[in-house]
Amino acid sequence: MENQYIIKGGACLKGEVTISGAKNAALGILAAAIMTDETVVIDNLPNVRDINVLLTAIEGIGATVKRIGPHEVAINGSTINNMTIDYDSIKKIRASYYLLGALLGKYQKAQVALPGGCDIGSRPIDQHLKGFRALGATVNIEYGMINTCAESLIGSHIFLDVVSVGATINIMLASCLAEGKTVIENAAKEPHIVDVANFLNSMGANIKGAGTDKIRINGVEKLHATEYSIIPDQIEAGTFMVAAAATKGDVLIRNVIPQHLEAISVKLIEIGATVEEFDDAVRVTADHRLRHTQIKTLPHPGFPTDMQPQIATLLALSEGTSTVTESIFENRFKYVDELARMGANIKVEGNVAIIEGVTELTGAAISAPDLRAGAALVVAALVADGYSTIDSIRYIERGYECFEEKLRGLGAVMEKISIDDERAVQKFKLKVG
Ligand code: UD1
Repeated sequence: MENQYIIKGGACLKGEVTISGAKNAALGILAAAIMTDETVVIDNLPNVRDINVLLTAIEGIGATVKRIGPHEVAINGSTINNMTIDYDSIKKIRASYYLLGALLGKYQKAQVALPGGCDIGSRPIDQHLKGFRALGATVNIEYGMINTCAESLIGSHIFLDVVSVGATINIMLASCLAEGKTVIENAAKEPHIVDVANFLNSMGANIKGAGTDKIRINGVEKLHATEYSIIPDQIEAGTFMVAAAATKGDVLIRNVIPQHLEAISVKLIEIGATVEEFDDAVRVTADHRLRHTQIKTLPHPGFPTDMQPQIATLLALSEGTSTVTESIFENRFKYVDELARMGANIKVEGNVAIIEGVTELTGAAISAPDLRAGAALVVAALVADGYSTIDSIRYIERGYECFEEKLRGLGAVMEKISIDDERAVQKFKLKVG
């Protein structure tokens, strides 16, 4: 049964929230975990849908997956008996294509369905394939499948034509057991690239330079068991930072690496919010209407595209005219029409959203178009006057663990109910007044 959120806007978020492990780091790390025949234990795993789908795909190729707890898993890749990831898995979670790099690196062959475009635009994987070919693999696309194999993988010098998180991780995976030295130039520098590299190194890989645009990988013979704890989720943290600022709240966001949040903190401070940094926490407060600004999404350390809908929502309520330029994905403004239905004044021209700040949003029945846009609409509903319902929250659940519980813990007035349960809507309204 499909669920929706019902939200009564107007509460200032106050209190403390603890951030879960980084989904995008976990996706790379889980794929990497199959590259040894020894048992790998991974902790601080976010308990979200995308992770559970990838774990099912990993079980599907024969690896042993043992859930130790909601945030901890043990994986053993010695029982892998199938090198094929079908379209069903790829459709549910694109990042199952990390198993291409992992299987190719470990067994010199893999077959993975070619992912299509997605809600935020066309998403080619030519750079991943270019990397595999440079390592000596044959790559063919036939009948919707990518078939890769190699006699042996040989280290190579690879220059990425576009900065790609996925290609950087996939090439790191494929090359860490290759013969000799691989250099990835123009590599992505996101915190989760560093986390995947640290994880592989803890398994015995020899990867240097992750976090810079030149990653050097010296191939090793084999990888071994490890125990590893995933970094906190930068985007979940950023979403709570924006929610705190938008509701003129005061929120201490725990279990973060403040340095990973710099691009977000700087923009929040620029528009008038206060951000205090602690060792592993940030506190965001705002007690007045915020100001306009200009933002352009860029690869790390620039402003993350995964925070674009959330910050645009905040700017929709800030004084003056703001612009938000999306330079990574082509179709990432789909939430703007939903925001307009709540009273926002945003015009999209090409890849730029021109935002005239309004003083108030009003509640409406809206639909989450994708993961981050869905979270942004929840922030809008938290601020809006009156009631909102948000459906298609399955998108939000792909990447946010216990989103409504965490928001409720900060004072949000919201519940998760079934989409066709009119009685639950009435009950909620009666309860919250
Ligand atoms: C990852 C994140 C996603 C985030 C994005 C950008 C994961 C699982 N997902 O996605 O949440 O929004 O980084 O920070 O970590 N491109 C090519 N050819 C390629 C690969 C990419 O042209 O072979 C282009 C893409 O179309 C896009 C840009 O490069 O325009 C960046 O994409 P990329 O960094 O690869 O994003 P993902 O790894 O898919």
